[in-house]
Amino acid sequence: MASKILIVDDEPSASEYLRLLLEQEKFEVRTTGNGVEALIALETNPFDLVISDIRMPQMDGLELLDHLKQRWPDLPVIVLTANEGIEDVVQAIHLGALNYLVKPSSPAVVSEAVKKALRVRPSRGVEPPLVSELVGESPAIVDVRHRVVMAARSDVHVIITGDTGTGKELVSRAIHSYSAVGGGPFVAHNCALSPPELFESEFFGHRRGSFTGAERDHSGLLRQADGGVLFLDELETMLPAHQAKLLRVIDDGEVRPVGAEQSQRVSVRFLAATNRDPAIMMQERTLREDLYYRLRGIEIRLPTLSQRLDDIPLLAHHFAGTGGGGFTPDAIEALMGAEWAGNVRQLRNVVQGAKAAAGDGKIGVGHLSLQSAGWVSRSDGGESGASSSGFQGAPRGVTLRALERWAIQKALEDCEGNRTRAAKSLDIDRSTLRRKLVEFGLD
Ligand SMILES: Nc1ncnc2c1ncn2[C@@H]1O[C@H](COP(=O)(O)OP(=O)(O)OP(=O)(O)O)[C@@H](O)[C@H]1O
Ligand SMILES: [Mg+2]
Repeated sequence: MASKILIVDDEPSASEYLRLLLEQEKFEVRTTGNGVEALIALETNPFDLVISDIRMPQMDGLELLDHLKQRWPDLPVIVLTANEGIEDVVQAIHLGALNYLVKPSSPAVVSEAVKKALRVRPSRGVEPPLVSELVGESPAIVDVRHRVVMAARSDVHVIITGDTGTGKELVSRAIHSYSAVGGGPFVAHNCALSPPELFESEFFGHRRGSFTGAERDHSGLLRQADGGVLFLDELETMLPAHQAKLLRVIDDGEVRPVGAEQSQRVSVRFLAATNRDPAIMMQERTLREDLYYRLRGIEIRLPTLSQRLDDIPLLAHHFAGTGGGGFTPDAIEALMGAEWAGNVRQLRNVVQGAKAAAGDGKIGVGHLSLQSAGWVSRSDGGESGASSSGFQGAPRGVTLRALERWAIQKALEDCEGNRTRAAKSLDIDRSTLRRKLVEFGLD
């Protein structure tokens, strides 16, 4: 049986465009001119999907959405917006809209969004109650959990910001695993780790022989993530020219591999992470504004650990796991008083190290290696990351060489052994890092 779609728009030309398009795809379509008419239509007929404009006289799209979600919580809703209406879209997503379409969208984009919305299982209304992998009870982390649920229920792109080690990747995986549309691949890509010359081929794929070294066909990240999620980590390192190409794909869903004649359609949801403040990057013109607004269907800002000190005992017990004798009160106190430039990741490392040292006994202050306490993260919270850590109060009598060796060791530890990222965080190039590793016998 054909799915029934209700279109709500006060602009007849816009609703007629959608009607023609969707009827061609064999959907049963009805149009109404405002929210009140839409509610009346819904009371008398069942529909499988509502596509509603936001700005309308009488009852606007947001008010309509509010009614719909109360009366038919499982009914998927796509909102329509003129390009400038990003705030409205964010609000619509908060109210439970599944996705949005920018007016006018190409037939392919409309069709894709509609089909995806209709695939959503009714069980999507079931709340992933806790997002239990995100440990913490502070208001900031409760808000993050709330946003993860919201993102999982909708279909929009998400941008995740926060300092190093605050849980950006954890959050993106949680969004995918609780996702209403579900299934689909989760492809993770760290933008900092690939040379800019390879951008095209890495994202779009290539045909065998299309350039020297292309020995076989390569599908590319966008096609690998088709029907699922592409997680773009360290977005701040993507060149603006490449951001523009990415934006094109987001807008038209067309991918043409290097050396191929034909392009192919993909449907990819983007989750992008950055440890810098988007507002500052836009000022510096390292982040394109249009890309940012396109990705920011929902924005999730992760708090630093120092912004949620009260969560430290919970997190510490979480990382210590079961078994073992817990912590002495002064160990907890020491953890709560320490500086956490590496945030939750650093806390995890310290606790796991302490647990190994304490064995079955209680973890005491003596087991905690908080030697990096001299490092503080920049207090502005938004813009930082490993590279913005600063050294404060150097211990007396330490040689420069020892400090350098220690800084390198720590950077590698924070970057989990990844040399490219460690070099970046030390603000040196990879070859310098390699040389120093040999010099200090750390290779
Ligand atoms: N709220 C949390 N509850 C439990 N574990 C967490 C939480 N936040 C982060 N972690 C853990 O901390 C570690 C670092 O998290 P993650 O890799 O997601 O950080 P990130 O923000 O992506 O860091 P980076 O910017 O350095 O890539 C992981 O082991 C993750 O599981
Ligand atoms: Mg990460």
